[in-house]
Amino acid sequence: MTGSEIRRRFLEHFASREHRILPSAPLVPQRDPTTLFISAGMHPLKPYFQGVSRPPAPRLASCQKCFRTPDLEEVGKTDRHNTFFEMLGNFAPTGDYFKETAIPLAWELVTEGLKLPKAKLRVTVHPDDEESPELWRKETDVRPDWIYRNHDNWWYAGTTGPNGPDSEIWFDRGPEVGCGRPDCYPDHCERFLEFWNLVFMQYDLHTDGTRVPLPRPGVDTGMGLERMATVMQGVTNIFEIDLYKPLLEFIHAESKKRRTVSERVVADHLRGMTFVIADGVLPSNEGRGYVLRRLIRRATLHAGHLGLARLTDGIGVVVAAMKDQYPELAARQDLVRTVVGQEADKFRQTLEQGMELFERVIDKYEKVIPGEEAFRLHDTFGFPIELTRELAAERGREVDMEGFESGMSAQRERSRTMTGDRWPDVKALPPSEFTGYRKLEDRGRVLLLRRGGREVEQAAEGEEVEVFLNRSPFYAESGGQVGDTGVLTGPNGRVRVDDTQRPTEGVIAHLGSLEMGSVKVGDRMTAAVDAGRRDQVARHHSATHLLHKALREVLGEQAVQKGSWVGPDHTTFDFSLNRAVTREELERVGHRINQQIRAALGFKETHTTYAKAVAQGAMHLFEEKYGDQVRMVCFGGWTCELCGGTHVKNTADVGPALILSEASVGAGLRRIDLVAGEAAEAVIRRRFAELGDLARSLNVPVERLPERVAELREQLRQVQRRLLELEDRLRAVEVGERSQIRERTTRVPLIAERVQARDLDSLRSYADRYLERLGSGVVAVVGDGMFVIKVSRDLAGELDANRFKAFFGTGGGRPELVQGKLTRPAEDAFNLLEDALR
Ligand code: SER
Repeated sequence: MTGSEIRRRFLEHFASREHRILPSAPLVPQRDPTTLFISAGMHPLKPYFQGVSRPPAPRLASCQKCFRTPDLEEVGKTDRHNTFFEMLGNFAPTGDYFKETAIPLAWELVTEGLKLPKAKLRVTVHPDDEESPELWRKETDVRPDWIYRNHDNWWYAGTTGPNGPDSEIWFDRGPEVGCGRPDCYPDHCERFLEFWNLVFMQYDLHTDGTRVPLPRPGVDTGMGLERMATVMQGVTNIFEIDLYKPLLEFIHAESKKRRTVSERVVADHLRGMTFVIADGVLPSNEGRGYVLRRLIRRATLHAGHLGLARLTDGIGVVVAAMKDQYPELAARQDLVRTVVGQEADKFRQTLEQGMELFERVIDKYEKVIPGEEAFRLHDTFGFPIELTRELAAERGREVDMEGFESGMSAQRERSRTMTGDRWPDVKALPPSEFTGYRKLEDRGRVLLLRRGGREVEQAAEGEEVEVFLNRSPFYAESGGQVGDTGVLTGPNGRVRVDDTQRPTEGVIAHLGSLEMGSVKVGDRMTAAVDAGRRDQVARHHSATHLLHKALREVLGEQAVQKGSWVGPDHTTFDFSLNRAVTREELERVGHRINQQIRAALGFKETHTTYAKAVAQGAMHLFEEKYGDQVRMVCFGGWTCELCGGTHVKNTADVGPALILSEASVGAGLRRIDLVAGEAAEAVIRRRFAELGDLARSLNVPVERLPERVAELREQLRQVQRRLLELEDRLRAVEVGERSQIRERTTRVPLIAERVQARDLDSLRSYADRYLERLGSGVVAVVGDGMFVIKVSRDLAGELDANRFKAFFGTGGGRPELVQGKLTRPAEDAFNLLEDALR
């Protein structure tokens, strides 16, 4: 069944069951700030689920264009990742039907309309959902023991918004695929492929983290068309389905080389860029525009690998294949070609200029490209970091991302301290009252608006602005804590705040862009901080105080804080110490922090004088200048610190805190990296999963991993030893078979041979074997750019091997043994040596 046929059957199935078929909405969300692109069939229908507006009919179905960005770098490397895809779905947003109807409707289509064999189908449900398994049993003929419970069966429309338990239908690709276990089940390995998700929307998640029931529970289902086509067409990867066929044929016909990964990247990205541009996005340095830019750059790079000169011709292929379903493509084809053509040209120039440096860098480092080199490529040639990483990975190297990031933040810091540029006349900026210690939402009046570094009276949709309010709950970056993000909503528009800065004491600058409408000086705006992110930042900041105190306890007063950085997903803490912290000390520090978290110490702030605070033993930074009045932050009676940051109410709110690393970052300076709260939870989950995977792959329970690894290492050692022995024996045989002693032509016996050696050790070993055969004389062997010359001991008094080394190249050694790098063709070197001995 072709992709178009699946699409048609799906929509017909639901049309004939009273569903109104909706056309696909554009990829760019119209009014939804929670997502960059529409990435699920229900996204455009969210207001219907939330009861904000009325759907055109109680039952809907659609084939929606979708675009997903998180896996951009994965595309091409795997069998199933793509960016652009189509999602088929049926919806009852206002509860016209619920599980009792959605389940049999889906089963009927799958088993009768699409005729998938029942023996191949499995179903999963959420463990808390009692009704769904019951309905599957009652309303369909799925085998009852093929209904599985899975904790992952809960779907969220985004970081906020509608969500609820779901039930998924899976296809069995057969025991040959995946783990091979007879008792394998869905979501265990590659064997089962999920192709239809039936979501039973019941809740609405608000920005402040509360979950309220939806006005009426509804149904949202989603079936990835490309995935369904792989099932129906019996192929193993999505790029083999008919929907990609014309594109891959084009790529094969136009390319000089065959490279699977690059072919897939080009095929996927061509579809992605065509649809994204047709829906109004242009390349830029942020948001959607940046995603598009990366898409075009990556496609250009891989087209280069393939020797595919006419990338833009691929756009015509996409349009021809998809225009019946998406008529907007035909009308905008020329625009797409122009935009892609220009962006690709610009990128090729960047590539050309930067490649030379890149090549030099690659040659210098065998494994890891230092962060500063990657930063230099970025800074000087505009090489995007993803590109450097991707090119490096192709040559088996990694990029030190931490080093790169620190280059980037140093640069940000440099441009920030050049206040003259960004904040031309700092004193003229209006001060703002900060209310964010207690509130996450507040009202304020716009005192000043700036755009492109200049004062303006008003700004319009899409423009980047700096907004200054008389009052704001937004925390401006300072004291190591990052600035808040969030939304400012005024009477005529909304600003998405990406960062908050403090150009000077008492001034809060909201940096962001107008997501919708306009804003003008004098507007009253509601300023709402991203609460979830702020909570995470607060957890990390409080955890940093606990860390500081614990370090002092364990290491003494010499561990003086030198700086810190506090973000939503981790915190780094720098302190002075002339040695590494031992593992045992680090464990004690970590234990102490978590002990104080469990002790649930209350937060207390006091405003007092600097002198009094210090007299009470409050910790502070010596280099920092404090005003006379200071804010002292204490947790219980355990730690007090001078600090302006935002914190949790009680240390228990920090959640788990984990020290990830401790390392030197300069002479006498150490850095601890720590995660807390959800970030720590994520690390723990990931580590457990990694350990689990590792244990599974080595076939032992996790507890036995160390033992198993030790066993394997021992086995490896033995195998290596055995290999060396065998090589030695092999060498002896080889040497015996082929050595030609050139003794008749020279005054001392000589063997000069080219051999296969992977290192100097094995080359020397060849020389020894030859010398054994020769008894007395000279041996010269070369292999893989190296040479070894040996003189038998009885001759060493008269003949110094060093005399011959210049014939071969550069190196050194003793009179009886010289070795080094071969710089001359072996035959020439042998002839020179033979002449000399003659
Ligand atoms: N919204 C769900 C998904 O994207 C089902 O449509 O999977």
